[in-house]
Amino acid sequence: MENASNYTDLFLQALDAAGAAYAPYSHFRVGAALLLNDGSVITGVNVENRSYGLTNCAERTAFFRAVTMRKKDFTALALATPDADYPVGPCGACRQVISEFMDKNAPVIFGSSQDNLVVKTVEELYPFDSLHELQKK
Ligand code: THU
Repeated sequence: MENASNYTDLFLQALDAAGAAYAPYSHFRVGAALLLNDGSVITGVNVENRSYGLTNCAERTAFFRAVTMRKKDFTALALATPDADYPVGPCGACRQVISEFMDKNAPVIFGSSQDNLVVKTVEELYPFDSLHELQKK
């Protein structure tokens, strides 16, 4: 397993982003920080809606922002959940989206504070991924 301390800076960017979360219903702020192969970082936050099912998670916000900015070469993803007292991993829907854009060996770092980070690979979070054999054209 990769050392979580290698990703403290990326996690702190996710934690900072969490401050911008729009979470008036759950009061559960989430920040995501995507590291790109050019060293730049794109953040995302959860954006809730009073029609609860329309909520967009922080991770997906980050990916969709990045793709909109024509960036798709991601090397790591950090997730910060400051309102939890234990590390909260990405939800199932986000694991599917992560698997679309990141290598199965890429690290995903998550935690509620920088002292308690978990590092997992994409494959560890989303084993037996389906349809990865489909060719992108
Ligand atoms: N949330 C995320 O942003 N990412 C996750 O992976 C888990 C859940 C958000 C959605 C909702 O706004 C709040 O956390 C509570 O579920």
